[in-house]
Amino acid sequence: MRNINEHTITEAVLQGMAGCDSPRLKEVMGALVRHLHDFAREVKLTESEWEAGIRFLTATGQKCDDKRQEFILLSDTLGLSTLTVAQNHPVSAQATEATVFGPFYVEGAPQVPQGADISGGAAGEPLFVRATVRGPAGEVVPGATVNVWQADADGLYDVQRTGLDAAQGRAVLRTDAQGQLAFRGVLPVPYPIPTDGPVGDMLRALGRHPWRPAHVHFMIEAPGYQTLITHVFRGGDPYLDSDAVYGVRSSLIGDFRSRADGSHALDFDFVLECS
Ligand code: BEZ
Ligand code: FE
Repeated sequence: MRNINEHTITEAVLQGMAGCDSPRLKEVMGALVRHLHDFAREVKLTESEWEAGIRFLTATGQKCDDKRQEFILLSDTLGLSTLTVAQNHPVSAQATEATVFGPFYVEGAPQVPQGADISGGAAGEPLFVRATVRGPAGEVVPGATVNVWQADADGLYDVQRTGLDAAQGRAVLRTDAQGQLAFRGVLPVPYPIPTDGPVGDMLRALGRHPWRPAHVHFMIEAPGYQTLITHVFRGGDPYLDSDAVYGVRSSLIGDFRSRADGSHALDFDFVLECS
């Protein structure tokens, strides 16, 4: 294969995959190459722009470690995460909608009993959450594993702080025999996604703000049901219609009621899909 030019390069790369054993890998990589080449043709990509792109992706990788996932942040801010979630979880009549996972989930959060305080001393006004987990026919789901994670009153997750030796604002609970769960956390506030890396540079260059509306994350797993990864957003938040990562669904906006003693209460029902 010689004398490849801008008109023949795409076909040459596609033909190079002829020996691939996996039809799915071939389909995905083939489409990626076609779209990438079409993108370069459409914008008539210059060599210095290509170099800038390589520098940006290199910096994105270099910003990643076991606590920081800049590539997820990039996917989230470009809408790829929401697109992927949406096309894999079409909205069904009764089930709770899924939304983006985000970069701040940590495996192995502490298992806590019903009613526990999961704040771990994090700053914030007290929030008492009660939730029920049901299946599509309205049946309660006992024994579901529920991961909860949330930011504190400064808008920071525990993994964004240095020097903490215990979890703050994250825990694993199990629903009781009535499919219910209760815990105490802190009132979530809007927060900016991290902007001290290449994704922050990109947002500034594009004239975009980094804010997410206040929310609490949930991941609910139970045998016989599809895993649900979602958030509950705080009603009235100023960023509900301009979430930096496009995660808001109207059905996920909760009523965080203020109580006379300065605490807050949220009741929310989750409905899982059968697997
Ligand atoms: C989060 O909600 O934790 C999150 C989601 C996407 C990007 C950054 C943060
Ligand atoms: Fe979050």
